[in-house]
Amino acid sequence: MENCMTRYALITGASSGIGLALAEALARRGRSLILVARQRDQLETIALELTQRFGVEVLFRACDLSEPLRLSGFLLELEEGERQIDLLVNCAGLGTCGPFLAQDWGTEQDLIEVNILALTRLCHTLGNLMAIHGGGQILNVASVAAFHPAPWMSTYYASKAYVLHFSEGLREELKKTGIKVSVLCPGLTRTAFFRTAQLAVEKLAHSRLMMSPEEVALYAVRALDKNRAVIIPGWRNRWLARAPRLMPRWMMRKLAGVTTKAYCPR
Ligand SMILES: NC(=O)c1ccc[n+]([C@@H]2O[C@H](COP(=O)([O-])OP(=O)(O)OC[C@H]3O[C@@H](n4cnc5c(N)ncnc54)[C@H](OP(=O)(O)O)[C@@H]3O)[C@@H](O)[C@H]2O)c1
Repeated sequence: MENCMTRYALITGASSGIGLALAEALARRGRSLILVARQRDQLETIALELTQRFGVEVLFRACDLSEPLRLSGFLLELEEGERQIDLLVNCAGLGTCGPFLAQDWGTEQDLIEVNILALTRLCHTLGNLMAIHGGGQILNVASVAAFHPAPWMSTYYASKAYVLHFSEGLREELKKTGIKVSVLCPGLTRTAFFRTAQLAVEKLAHSRLMMSPEEVALYAVRALDKNRAVIIPGWRNRWLARAPRLMPRWMMRKLAGVTTKAYCPR
């Protein structure tokens, strides 16, 4: 009975980095959570810890979002279940770097499945459920990478441009349904992302742009309270997001290529 009345925030990518920090920031506010990622043990440990620290209900579901059939099964569970989700945080994501033609296709496909397709399907299924219940909130995690293209990380930057534009479009479309849509565009954040993307993390570690996932999460939840459309933590990142508009596209492409290549070991 209690479950029917509780409203949950569902967070993908909650096993580490920004997703984990968002889970903690929301649990601190007394939010009941459903955590999603692949690493079951990690999710179990986090759920236990957040429950003990903040006295909130934390459920978890291991799901590989790059596998459409597994995602379908999970979405069916959500549709048929009785748990009401009024906040969806699409944070799971991965990056790749290096020459596109030399990339392993499987990893590129995973990037598109997770960063674009799974995020969009979750918005579709949970958006419909939220509309039935009179509203809710969606936070999609893009990046400052969303504001311009970048050679050597073409698929990642393009996937984040998709997330930014999709979220902004959806925001206007869903206004009358009571569903608020925001998009978070972090800059460099100290997480496992760089290792997974095989970027030369040691060169980036001392960058002035680098923020902690906790700083990003705190900024994001405060901006969510204000229903901000595009959430960019840190003044340097806000400047970076504007910079592409101040120079010709050919110059932006060249500059971005030089920067990303410097961090790609291959
Ligand atoms: N770090 C940055 O500088 C930065 C900057 C801008 C935007 N972002 C974005 O922030 C988001 C979170 O990244 P992060 O920096 O926090 O990196 P992270 O620590 O590597 O977190 C990535 C999360 O995504 C999950 N994930 C990856 N592949 C998955 C899959 N196939 N199925 C389910 N879950 C999957 C991971 O969980 P499992 O491994 O347990 O599956 C993990 O929880 C991403 O969308 C990223 O693009 C990061």
